[in-house]
Amino acid sequence: MLNFAIQTARDAGRLLAERFGRALQISNKSELDLVTESDLASERLIIERIKTYHPRHSILAEESGATGPADREGQDEWRWIIDPLDGTTNYAHGYPCFCVSIGLEHKGRMEIGIVYDPMRDELFSAERGEGASLNGRRIQVSPVDSLAAALLCTGFPYDVRERSEFARHFANFIMNAQAVRRDGAAALDLAALDLAYVACGRFDGFWEEGLKPWDVAAGSLLVAEAGGRVSKYDGSSLSIFTPPILASNGLLHAEMMRVLSI
Ligand code: IPD
Ligand code: CA
Ligand code: CA
Repeated sequence: MLNFAIQTARDAGRLLAERFGRALQISNKSELDLVTESDLASERLIIERIKTYHPRHSILAEESGATGPADREGQDEWRWIIDPLDGTTNYAHGYPCFCVSIGLEHKGRMEIGIVYDPMRDELFSAERGEGASLNGRRIQVSPVDSLAAALLCTGFPYDVRERSEFARHFANFIMNAQAVRRDGAAALDLAALDLAYVACGRFDGFWEEGLKPWDVAAGSLLVAEAGGRVSKYDGSSLSIFTPPILASNGLLHAEMMRVLSI
């Protein structure tokens, strides 16, 4: 299953990279939320693959929603949670930061998480209980243990204009952390890769609200398997269906929770 997920993410990523920079058909899902023909083509590739090799598995994908069998309690035994193109705004603007995110759940628990960045050919993978890797080499969260020395990142949800608390959190972190990335060289603007970067220690912490299951499914397993911690803002356990999400190397979690409570 892990190899299948890795191969599928690589193929979808290659498709995105091949089409990157070409004239694209772009439509709006909401005022700020875009979808391009590449989102749709990547999702089609992933879903066809799953239907061919794992026809009994359920799927929850950003562009086409939920499909497949659920058991008598309404629970899906195996469910793939897919963001076929995380970073659509970047992609549509020709900004080369985007990725594919594929998570696999078994009876509601994340078992596999893959995040693939085709522009850097970086494939992050995690399997429950087996740790996390980047291109096959084991990764770990950073050892930074004070917020004053931490590089954090966040993302702006599409409905950010309706979220007054977001600006407050952002300002509070700027005042307390070493730096916060959102725009500039290290800014990625894609939640799945932000989480992968916490997993490999490039970022020390990440917070965002208003995310969807496909934004955080794979990345949250990556962080946990790399030795970090993922929760809601108040430290309670994360459900991928109820963001906000706070992810850190674990050492910074309490300090970040404190800032989020101001
Ligand atoms: C978006 C990205 C972005 C985050 C948004 C997401 P999309 O996903 O992950 O970083 O700030 O909240 O919706 O639309 O590019 O798949
Ligand atoms: Ca996304
Ligand atoms: Ca997407």
